[in-house]
Amino acid sequence: MNKTFAFDVYGTLVDPVQMGLHLEVHLGDRARAFGQLWHEKKVEYAFRRGLMERYRDFGVCTRQALDYCLRVFGVELSDDEVTELMAKFGELDAFPDVRPGLTALKQRGHKLVAFSNGPVAAVRALLGHGGVLPLLDDVISVDEVGTFKPSPRVYAHLLHRAGVAPEDCWMISGNPWDVIGGKAAGLNAAWVQRDLDKIFDPWEYQPDLVVRDLVELSQIE
Ligand code: LAC
Repeated sequence: MNKTFAFDVYGTLVDPVQMGLHLEVHLGDRARAFGQLWHEKKVEYAFRRGLMERYRDFGVCTRQALDYCLRVFGVELSDDEVTELMAKFGELDAFPDVRPGLTALKQRGHKLVAFSNGPVAAVRALLGHGGVLPLLDDVISVDEVGTFKPSPRVYAHLLHRAGVAPEDCWMISGNPWDVIGGKAAGLNAAWVQRDLDKIFDPWEYQPDLVVRDLVELSQIE
């Protein structure tokens, strides 16, 4: 039976924490910590905007989180440097397992979509750069709904856009809060535990499957 796999983007197909490395010249060995805080802060901003019903697209959350992190780490950048850095978001590499994993799943006849907090144009450009876009049947964004994951409305939108019933749809994410969001909305969900030290939130919603990467996922499904 063919299934629909909906892949989260940041943290699942590409590594947003790498973004901190572009500031290595300013930050030295704090560059990765900067990337981690930047990712966490932009996700927090999205959560808060969702709750407050004050939607601005994920690019705004990313940019405002950058300003926050620059202040925390005491780094000053010119407007041109900020523009250059933000452009690098569109050039993040896919994790090495992504193309082989998606290729194997596609060969098995499954439908593959990206499902992201990022706007469609930004996600298409990013995944096009990484050579992942041709492996996907569609790119679906929360931007079409005007709120963020993990609102149940966005997972309902995913099912509607993909034309699939929840029991035939898998949310695949490296972000535990996204796995929990998918499960709470009635989807199946797999957690891509890229870091073995990462703890899954001890909520009543747990993943149906835990894999290290997408190649492992393709071997199971
Ligand atoms: C995404 C980020 C938040 O939705 O992981 O792609």
